[in-house]
Formats: sequence, C-alpha cells, structure tokens
Amino acid sequence: MKVSSNKIVDIYNHYLNRLKVVYSEKESSILLKRLMAHFIDSQPYQIPFVDSDKRVSESKLLQIHFAVKDLLVFKPLEYILGFAKFYEHDFLVNENVLIPRPETEELVDYIWKNKNLFDKKPRGLDIGTGSGCIPIMLSKLFDVQMFSCDISQAAISIAEKNKKLHAVDIQFINIDFLNSSFWNLLPLDLDFIVSNPPYVRESEKVLMEKNVLNYEPHLALFVENSDPLIFYRQIHDFALLALKSKGHLFLEINEFLSYETADLFINDFSDIFIIKDLNDKPRFLHVIK
Ligand SMILES: C[S@@+](CC[C@H](N)C(=O)[O-])C[C@H]1O[C@@H](n2cnc3c(N)ncnc32)[C@H](O)[C@@H]1O
Repeated sequence: MKVSSNKIVDIYNHYLNRLKVVYSEKESSILLKRLMAHFIDSQPYQIPFVDSDKRVSESKLLQIHFAVKDLLVFKPLEYILGFAKFYEHDFLVNENVLIPRPETEELVDYIWKNKNLFDKKPRGLDIGTGSGCIPIMLSKLFDVQMFSCDISQAAISIAEKNKKLHAVDIQFINIDFLNSSFWNLLPLDLDFIVSNPPYVRESEKVLMEKNVLNYEPHLALFVENSDPLIFYRQIHDFALLALKSKGHLFLEINEFLSYETADLFINDFSDIFIIKDLNDKPRFLHVIK
C-alpha cells in the first residue's frame, strides 16, 4: 500500500501502521518520530502535529521509506541514522561499534562526580573504546589526559572521527588487551583505568533482543560461559603494573556476576565498592589500589 499523500501526518500514520506489526504502539511511535524528525530536520515532539499539512519531498519520503524497511528487520535506529546520543552529545556509530548505553553514561557521570579524587590533571586509560564515547566524554567534562585501546581497527576509526567531531585529544591504541605481550604499548603511571569490557555470557543471548543480537558487534558484547571474567582478570593484572599506588579502577560489570567480579580484586587492592545503577542493579565497580 502506498502513502496517501506527502503530508507529514499521512506519512506518519502510514508508517506507524507498518511498524506496529513488529513493535509495540509506543515503541513504533518513538522510533518513527525520531526517524522522521531526522530526515525532515525537525524535532521528534513536533511529529506529526506541528506542520502536519506540510509536504515532504519525494527524495525525503524515499529515505524515510528505506529507513522504516530497516527498522522492520530490527536494525537499530542509531545504525540507520549513523549516530547515537551519549550524555546529550552526538556520537558517530556504525555496525563496528557498540551503541553507547545509558549505563555507560552513569559510569562517566560517576567518574566526573569523583574528579576531586585527583589532585592534578589525571592520566587515564579506557580499555575497549568502541565509539570512543567514554574517553571523549571524560575529556569534554574535565581536564584529563586520556589513552584508549581496542582490538578492532574499525572501531578505532570511528573513535578517531568522534575525537575530531568533539575536538578533544586522545591517543587510541590498536591492541588485543587480552594478550599481555602487547601491554608495553600501553601507558604506565596511570591515575585511573576505566572499562566497559565485553561481559555478556553466551548463555545470556536468550535474554537479548534481535536488534542487539543481529546487528551489534559480538566482539564487543560476548564472553565464553566458561570464563566470563576474563577481561576483569587481565585488567586486575594490568592495573598491578600500570596503575599508580592509590589509583582508581572504574568498571562496568555484569549485574549477575557482581560479587564474583569484586572478589577478583580483594587480595591486591585496598578498597572495593559495588555501585548500583539508576535501576538499582549492581552495574559498576570502583576499586582503589
Ligand atoms: C562493551 S564494548 C564497549 C565500547 C565502549 N567503551 C562503550 O562503552 O560503548 C567493548 C569493546 O571492547 C573491545 N574489545 C573486545 N575484545 C577486546 C580485546 N581483546 N582487546 C581490546 N579490546 C577489545 C570491543 O571491540 C568493544 O569496542
């Protein structure tokens, strides 16, 4: 069936009906408002009521049509539009990088609120940079010298673009962090390490939505059931080498493995705090050397 006219309200109603076949009414409406607003240079809250009789050009209508087609096969809106919001800022994303999550905004917020822990410009390393959202936001929020690594060169290319977009200075390093023979490429004398590493067990895939499973990079998400804390063990060992005495670790963690993750740090670090997120789930560790 064709759209009855090029008026905003008709386009909205037409595609809302199509999206409702696979998404809830509320979700369909949110996705469509964000999508249409992007293509017709408007605000989501204005769709479809403000200028509802205004006509959209054929080329814009075609863009909306193909974007809805992508949504119907569960492609995340952020990958369709090519950017995601993080801490109210736009970050470029594609299918090589994880779409930044609200929990990670909380992690950044926690570090920013604790910036008084550092007496002068601190040196920080982010492990597993993805879009670069963590080191870039920290660099925007306070005076910090950031380094960041990732195994994926494709992710680093996006992070580099985001660095330019936000006009900050960060050194990105392309290494496999799990291989300690590459650690000599990473900085020493760090005041803090931050990481949102892969931590979802293969067995947890059943809990995940199609848009995540079919489109987001599995390299960024999953760890083997047999060794789910592999990244945290390596971070522990690396921190013993590279973190200053009294330095800080800020880690996003698997909410189902919070005690096991904290336990890794009990012997060699002086303080460990399990931090809950806004949904009251244990999602972060703050560890002090
Ligand atoms: C959960 S994502 C986090 C991305 C970003 N920091 C964020 O919070 O949106 C984990 C990142 O770790 C990277 N990664 C996976 N295995 C790695 C490894 N062995 N060494 C370094 N980085 C790795 C992935 O490419 C991915 O970008």
